[in-house]
Amino acid sequence: MRKPLVAGNWKMYKTVAEARHLVSEMVPGLQAIEGVEKVICPPFTALLAVRALLEGTEIELGAQNLHWETSGAYTGEISPLMISELCQYVIIGHSERRTYFGEVDDTVNRKTQAAMMHGLIPIICVGESLEEYESGMTEEIVDRQIRQGLAKMDLQEKSAQQGQSPLVIAYEPVWAIGTGKAATAEGANAVIANVIRASIAELFGEEFASSTRVLYGGSVKPDNASEFFMQPDIDGALVGGASLNSSDFISITRAAAT
Ligand code: 13P
Repeated sequence: MRKPLVAGNWKMYKTVAEARHLVSEMVPGLQAIEGVEKVICPPFTALLAVRALLEGTEIELGAQNLHWETSGAYTGEISPLMISELCQYVIIGHSERRTYFGEVDDTVNRKTQAAMMHGLIPIICVGESLEEYESGMTEEIVDRQIRQGLAKMDLQEKSAQQGQSPLVIAYEPVWAIGTGKAATAEGANAVIANVIRASIAELFGEEFASSTRVLYGGSVKPDNASEFFMQPDIDGALVGGASLNSSDFISITRAAAT
């Protein structure tokens, strides 16, 4: 009942010209894959160009960040209103934003509320650091990120209005991002089922939790993707490095369809 979703997070890669080239390479292969929702998240500067190339396809567009205010004197920031003109999705609280740009659960919470208020679907990232993982704190950290990130929200009402969960969660263990050392599929599934979905169920009810898609992210490649997608609680992937290569991203997306 949860449609698989594969999203490519391009991070701070690709000029406008390079983005056009990469998307043009990807579109035919991605278009041929059915039964998977596909989302591309280029840098802000390439959104407009990529959007033009995705017109008439079923491939959707996402931004990698947003500010929580609709407008204002916030030099260098991009508002949810601006993003909602171009995109369907927005990544929120990626570990790189938490690590390098001071994002915390409270900012994730504000951004998530702002995104949904403007009709965007947030892809909210959670995950423990290597140190936290090694000291057995995964459950505590991820549970806190979910509860505080989703605090003070009436999501049940939103999902009833829309007929589906208004958000997506991505479980990205920080130690697996860009390291080539992916989590095991079983390990990621266990965190998603026993921590993420369990916390969401406590907050918003079983039905809401079981309708919310949870992705895995962290060194997903064509040769390990299907192991993740075979897991019952993993509904797709948030792909970094491999989303910058058209054939790798197409292979990963195809694996989600089977
Ligand atoms: P990699 O796929 O490069 O490990 O990055 C994962 C990620 O951070 C996606 O948001």
